[in-house]
Amino acid sequence: MKEIYLDNSATTKPLPEVIQKMIEALTEGYGNPSSLHNKGLEAEKYLKTAREKIAKKLGVQPDEIYFTSGGTEANNLAIKGAACHYRNRGKHLITTAVEHPSVLESFRVLEGEGFEVTYLKTDKYGLISLDELRDNITEETILVSIIHVNNELGSVHDLEKIGRIIKEKNKNTLFHADCVQSFGKFALNPEKNLIDLLTISGHKIHGPKGIGALYRKKGVQLKAQQVGGGQEKNLRSGTENVPGIAGLIPALDAFEENQLYEKLKKLRKHFLEGLEKIKRRVIVNSPPDGAAHILSISFPGIKGEVLIHSLEAEGIYLSTGSACHSRSREKSHVLKAAGLTEEQIDGTIRISFSSFNTEEEIDYTIEMINKKLEIFF
Ligand SMILES: Cc1ncc(COP(=O)(O)O)c(C=O)c1O
Repeated sequence: MKEIYLDNSATTKPLPEVIQKMIEALTEGYGNPSSLHNKGLEAEKYLKTAREKIAKKLGVQPDEIYFTSGGTEANNLAIKGAACHYRNRGKHLITTAVEHPSVLESFRVLEGEGFEVTYLKTDKYGLISLDELRDNITEETILVSIIHVNNELGSVHDLEKIGRIIKEKNKNTLFHADCVQSFGKFALNPEKNLIDLLTISGHKIHGPKGIGALYRKKGVQLKAQQVGGGQEKNLRSGTENVPGIAGLIPALDAFEENQLYEKLKKLRKHFLEGLEKIKRRVIVNSPPDGAAHILSISFPGIKGEVLIHSLEAEGIYLSTGSACHSRSREKSHVLKAAGLTEEQIDGTIRISFSSFNTEEEIDYTIEMINKKLEIFF
């Protein structure tokens, strides 16, 4: 049976050249980058190359990039690290109600330590009000953390406007952006957008799992959340995940953002046109100008979970929401914050594209959705 993978926001399939590079790093370049001998230097080269490539994509300096075990760790480090270092400046932090759990849970920990957190509400697309953001920044606000592309809805926050508002209101307030879903698809520019800290992850760009990075603007201080041998300039101790970092290299080379985005946009358009053939009521939850690779749709009165499993039987893989929610019974906090009804949330599925999807796959998926809706509901 042909496999149609439409869950690329959860993770992407690693490219063959990524796997090749990882095998190379495991079989030949297996040294410890901290070792002084040649094997160590060989391993260190992977780190240097990957760091330079990430920095180039972001238009920043390589020594502003710190490897982590993924987006989750980078978010934890940015948020807890900044709050702990700058706690003497103030106790107020701002984020949104629609962040990834790695961001929300970091803020919950900080609340437990006496910080005061403002969770900005959003509109039906999961977008905050910029006026509300401005109104909430005070002299006491040390950090604002905002998701760029929402992993469930595909809505896109305007980082440039947000950065300007933050710095106009309080030039000392740090700006962290979770760019896990946008890195590799959007041309990101932390300097222009006045971003101090930015999170990326390897497995959303056809790279390996368990590897990510944090951009930290020069001069910004963070309290390390993990101590030990002092790797990554004392910010993230632990022997680096060399195969993971090596695997990032071909993934970073594989796509040019604008070209990839154009391709994804066509797939999204094709899917949306296909939805007109669906014989049941469909609500598109994603904004019309949402990110090209993520589409959230609801079939009210239908169980998304049942639909997902029935499509899986046909070799079609998609999800009900984010991968982190799909195994828990709790309803998505993002869809709740966007004001969807319980019935709508239960009937939601998320389709997320990669450059390897085709219009034929989409046509088949639409056909199968129609068929399953007739059989099961
Ligand atoms: C927006 C967002 N932030 C953070 C993460 C966590 O990244 P990782 O899986 O690399 O820990 C994800 C993963 O789905 C995400 O979508």
